[in-house]
Amino acid sequence: MYIAIMGYGVVGSGVAEVLAKNHESIVKRSSQPELELKYILDLRDFPGDVNEKLVIKDFNTILNDDSVKIVVETMGGVHPAFEFVSSCLKAGKSVVSSNKELVATNGYELLKLAQENNVNFLFEASVGGGIPILRPISQCLAANKIDEIAGILNGTTNFILTKMINDKMSFADALKLAQENGYAEKDPTADIEGIDACRKICILASLCFGKHVYAKYVYTEGITKIALEDVEYIRSWGGVIKLIGRAKWLSDTKISAMVTPAVIANGSQLAGVNDVFNAILIRGNAIGDVVFYGRGAGKLPTASAVVADVIDCAKHTGRKKIFGWEDSCDNYVVDYLDMDTALYVRAEAENKAEAKKAIQSVFEGAKFLKRDNAPENELAFTTGVASERELRTRLDTLHCIKPLSVIRITDY
Ligand code: HSE
Repeated sequence: MYIAIMGYGVVGSGVAEVLAKNHESIVKRSSQPELELKYILDLRDFPGDVNEKLVIKDFNTILNDDSVKIVVETMGGVHPAFEFVSSCLKAGKSVVSSNKELVATNGYELLKLAQENNVNFLFEASVGGGIPILRPISQCLAANKIDEIAGILNGTTNFILTKMINDKMSFADALKLAQENGYAEKDPTADIEGIDACRKICILASLCFGKHVYAKYVYTEGITKIALEDVEYIRSWGGVIKLIGRAKWLSDTKISAMVTPAVIANGSQLAGVNDVFNAILIRGNAIGDVVFYGRGAGKLPTASAVVADVIDCAKHTGRKKIFGWEDSCDNYVVDYLDMDTALYVRAEAENKAEAKKAIQSVFEGAKFLKRDNAPENELAFTTGVASERELRTRLDTLHCIKPLSVIRITDY
């Protein structure tokens, strides 16, 4: 059986490397007599590369070759990946993708096409890099109704936050290092503004709750506004700030979903997840909490997940796996402001004693936090739990303070 790879970048070249490195065991596990890489589609040339001779420029070579039964899409972006993947599925080829943007945008359509053509469309690598997560959700946790998902879903931002917090490295230097290590997206804005994590929570929520979650409905904030002052206050509170993607089942026709920096208590399994590592917590009604942890980005970890899907496609030749979700209706994702939360607030106050009194009268049970070397006019506090809309409305009535930072506190 022949395979083609579309896109010979970090992940695509990793796929070729893993296929070659573990060739014997991969073939054995695929239940096929042979699995061979036949083409690599890329517009670039790769002189001196071990696979130089496999590189082609015309997608139709793959499409029209009936001996190619599995196509790996590691191009990234929606176009032309969507058109290429659709054509392959229609031509009866299974497709394995690591492209979270494509799956988050067109996952439902492509799964439907795969269904109609009795082939498979698998994308384990699109969430959590090398961490097995989609297959465990759809198979090992199938007995559960999943109530909630929360995860550190972006390796680049977790790497940056860890370097800033532990090594006092500047944001720019940490981002540069993440790019050099091949973790960051082509345009790192997708990482630091939470867009990449948003795509991943869309895929997870679609799979866990059974309906496509579109990114445009998911409230998303990145890490660019996190200040070291906040990190210090939260340290004194007993926690850390992480970029968290989360989604919650509310009813068969309503879920919540968002990506925001969030305060995590030190006792949480998510608090100790550092560097490029990702972790995904799934809360099921039979299993309780289960956490999946591992390398969320990088060449070989991501290739590991892609190749596992290739093996699965090879094993299921001529058979469609039961995997996927339905389309969703409007208003499926509720307004994040209607969700309950507690908040951490850092603010400026000219008259601190007066401000503290006012805060306590507006937020009953507010707790004030401390940090070393705080300026005279700075204060920070945590609120109790209420809807975010209610908490923000109350905050707006406090004219004696100027909020500088507001971060949600989680209970994971
Ligand atoms: N840019 C992504 C990350 C790559 O840093 O997590 C893996 O999806």
